[in-house]
Amino acid sequence: MELKRRAHRSRPWTRPGKAARVIVAHNPVGPADDPSTSDVLAQVELVAGALAELGVAVTRLGIADWRIWEDLQRLAARRPAGRASLGTAGPAALAPGTVVFNLVEAPPGMPGVHPATAAALELLDVPFSGSSAAALWLSTDKLATRALLAAEGVPVPPGGRLEHLGETGPGGTEVFDRVPPPWILKPACEDASLGLDGDAVCATRAAALARAAELLRRFPGQPLVVERYLPGRELNVSLLAAPQGAPHERRQPPMVLPVAEIEFVDYPPGMPRIVGYEAKWQPGSFAYTHTVRSFPSGAAAAPLLAEARRLALAAWGVCGLSGYGRVDLRLDERGVPHVLEVNANPCLAADAGFMAAAEQAGLTAAEVVSRILADAVARHGADRADRVDRPEQPERLDREPAAPTPPLPIAGGAAF
Ligand SMILES: Nc1ncnc2c1ncn2[C@@H]1O[C@H](COP(=O)(O)OP(=O)(O)OP(=O)(O)O)[C@@H](O)[C@H]1O
Ligand SMILES: [Mg+2]
Repeated sequence: MELKRRAHRSRPWTRPGKAARVIVAHNPVGPADDPSTSDVLAQVELVAGALAELGVAVTRLGIADWRIWEDLQRLAARRPAGRASLGTAGPAALAPGTVVFNLVEAPPGMPGVHPATAAALELLDVPFSGSSAAALWLSTDKLATRALLAAEGVPVPPGGRLEHLGETGPGGTEVFDRVPPPWILKPACEDASLGLDGDAVCATRAAALARAAELLRRFPGQPLVVERYLPGRELNVSLLAAPQGAPHERRQPPMVLPVAEIEFVDYPPGMPRIVGYEAKWQPGSFAYTHTVRSFPSGAAAAPLLAEARRLALAAWGVCGLSGYGRVDLRLDERGVPHVLEVNANPCLAADAGFMAAAEQAGLTAAEVVSRILADAVARHGADRADRVDRPEQPERLDREPAAPTPPLPIAGGAAF
C-alpha cells in the first residue's frame, strides 16, 4: 500500500529553503497541564523527527513566561562567537540560517500569548513558520473571524456575541432573539474545544442562559459566541503552502489536502453531534470512541467536496494564513456548508486532522515540515525585500527637498 501511494505521488519535493538550523519553539508544559496543552509535545516530536530526517540541526525550546525574546537571547548568549544580544541586532545574534518553527499554543484562558509570540518574532526579524501575528490574532478570535468571513461572502452559522446577561444593549441576551435555536455556546478565543463540554448545545432559553452564566464565569474577560447549532455533516479541510517556486510565484494558492469528514457513529437520537472536549481529549468517553474520521470520495460527494475546498481556500485568503491551516465546516439541515472556524497553525500531531489529511494525499511528515519551513524562509525573504524596496520616509516638517534615502540595512546577513 505504502509503495503504491508513493508511486502515485505527484507533488514536487520541496527543499526546506535555506534553513540551516531550526529552533522548535513551544509553549511550556507542566505535569498538571490539561491534555489540550501538553499535546504540543507530540507535535514537537513529529517536527523534530522530520527535521532530523531532513538533516537540519534542531534545538527544542520551551518558552518560559511567554517571553520568546528572552529565551532566544539566552540561546544566542550560548554562541561561542559572543554576539549575545538580541537588543538591536535582531536575528544577527542567532546563527545565520536559523528559523523558528513556531509551535507555541495558548493555554486555557491566555489566548493572547499565541499571536503575541509571533508578533515578537516579527519585531525581532526572525523567520518563523506558519501564520503571521495578524492572522493568528484574527483566527484566534472567533467573533472577528466570523465577521470578516461573512463580510467577504463566506457563509458562517447564524450567530452573535454575548458578553453579559443584561437584556438590553450590545452583547446582551437579545442575541437569543436574533439567532434561532438550538444554540451552541463557546468562548470566543479558546480552541481545542475548551468550553465545549457537558451541555454545550441548548434547546431552551433557560438552558442557554444557565450555560452562558457558567461559561462567562469559567472564561473571565472573554465574550461568548452564540451560534445556531447546525445539525448536518462535519467536514474539515487542511491546506498546505504551495511548493516554493521563483520569488514571483510566491503568492500561489495553497495546496488543498483531501477533505475529511468526522462521522458520528451510532449516536443516539437527541445526543448533540459535536466534536467537543470529550471527543477530543477523553479516551474513555462515548464521544471519543464514536467520532471517526473518514475521507469521502466518489461522484456523489464530488460537488460537496468541491464547495468545501472552495470555502476553505476563501477562508485561508480572508484570514491571511500562511504555511499551513485547517478550516472546520458544518452543513445545515439543507446540506449547505458553513465555516465554523479557521485554524492557523493547526495541531501537527501524527493522529490529528492535518497530518491525517497529508498522509491521505501521500505526503510524509518530512515533506510537510519541509514545505512549511520553505514557506517560512520565502515569506521572510519577501517581507524583507518589500521593506527594502519601500523604505519608510520619516515625515519632514520643513519644505526642503528630501535627501535620497539609503536602503535599510539588513540585519543578520543575507542568509534568507
Ligand atoms: N454552530 C455549530 N453547529 C454545530 N456544531 C458546532 C457549531 N460550532 C461548533 N460546533 C461543534 O463544536 C466543535 C468545536 O467547535 P470549534 O471548531 O468552533 O471550536 P474549537 O475549540 O476552536 O475547536 P478546535 O479544536 O478545532 O480548535 C466543532 O468541530 C463542531 O463539532
Ligand atoms: Mg474546530
